[in-house]
Amino acid sequence: MVKTMEWQHNALEILDQTKLPVEISFIKCGTYSRVGEAIKKLEVRGAPAIGAAAGFAMVLGWQQLMAENRCNLPAYEEIKNELIAARPTAVNLAWAANKLYAEAERLTRQSKTQSEIACALEKLAQQIYTDDIECNKKMGRYGAELLPPHTRILTHCNAGALATCGWGTALGVIREAFAQGKIDMVYADETRPLLQGARLTVWELMEDKIPVTVITDNMAAWAMQQKGINAVVTGADRIALNGDTANKIGTFGVALAAKYHGIPFYIAAPVSTFDFSIPDGSGIPIEERSAQEVKTLQGVVTAPPEALAYNPAFDVAPAALISGIITEYGVIKPPYRENIKKLQLKIKEEIFNE
Ligand code: MRU
Repeated sequence: MVKTMEWQHNALEILDQTKLPVEISFIKCGTYSRVGEAIKKLEVRGAPAIGAAAGFAMVLGWQQLMAENRCNLPAYEEIKNELIAARPTAVNLAWAANKLYAEAERLTRQSKTQSEIACALEKLAQQIYTDDIECNKKMGRYGAELLPPHTRILTHCNAGALATCGWGTALGVIREAFAQGKIDMVYADETRPLLQGARLTVWELMEDKIPVTVITDNMAAWAMQQKGINAVVTGADRIALNGDTANKIGTFGVALAAKYHGIPFYIAAPVSTFDFSIPDGSGIPIEERSAQEVKTLQGVVTAPPEALAYNPAFDVAPAALISGIITEYGVIKPPYRENIKKLQLKIKEEIFNE
């Protein structure tokens, strides 16, 4: 399995996902701002992956402040805010950047030296990276239990190893279920405008010899009916307290079509994707990207250049359409408000007991 990113102590090497599947090439990011640029351009993408990348970027930011002799918390906070602004919807980005900032703040209060803080930040960023893989494996096991033998499953966008630090959320569930002999076929929506499904999910599953069929997004409802699809699993970018879930644009439509056909629609996401401060999906910021992405396809013009275009990168699937949310703590079922609160309490208790 190809690595999404590799930490090199004074740089973060990332796999350039904009080039896949045509080319496997890497970008060496020696500064926090280059990591921020990679996040904006989707060279590194997927909620958990951009969270981990932001963690390493925060380490580079601290190192840079030290080298420039202006290592202080207000300057560090500016770096944090700049990184968080790179992409607004996936909450994992802010989660990781805030975690690193809080650590620097805590150690500054304890009068630790700048170098000691640098070491601690590096350790924390590496922990976020390794924990993510561990969480994905757990989610995979919980999620696979939900799937019947002869599963024909549909997924949207890419929530695989490429979107995480390895293994994947939705594709982690599929990987585990495949290992258990339960997967007959995976249907991958191509995921316009940037084709994360066709370019990344299909490539990733083919690498692992998992049977996959690519479809265009507008085929999903028909494929559900014609191809005996009996489960849907996707990832998430932000989950509100009531279970409303933001994910790649098109997920809402897939969830609606699944509901119509009586097909269970699952979300797989680690707790770093939950935003416990947002009561429902209406508070989730939705990133709007350039109109060019809609009016072109891989650089080829597909609409009159002067046409108006709308390009929300995400939508929100209402909780009522979601059959279960697979996390590293187990599967959350409705009533979501109550059960997500329980999850929040469990996490608070764990932090308190640490
Ligand atoms: O714009 P992207 O490619 O970063 O969007 C990615 C998604 O929407 C994924 O489904 C989500 O981040 C979950 S990744 C495990």
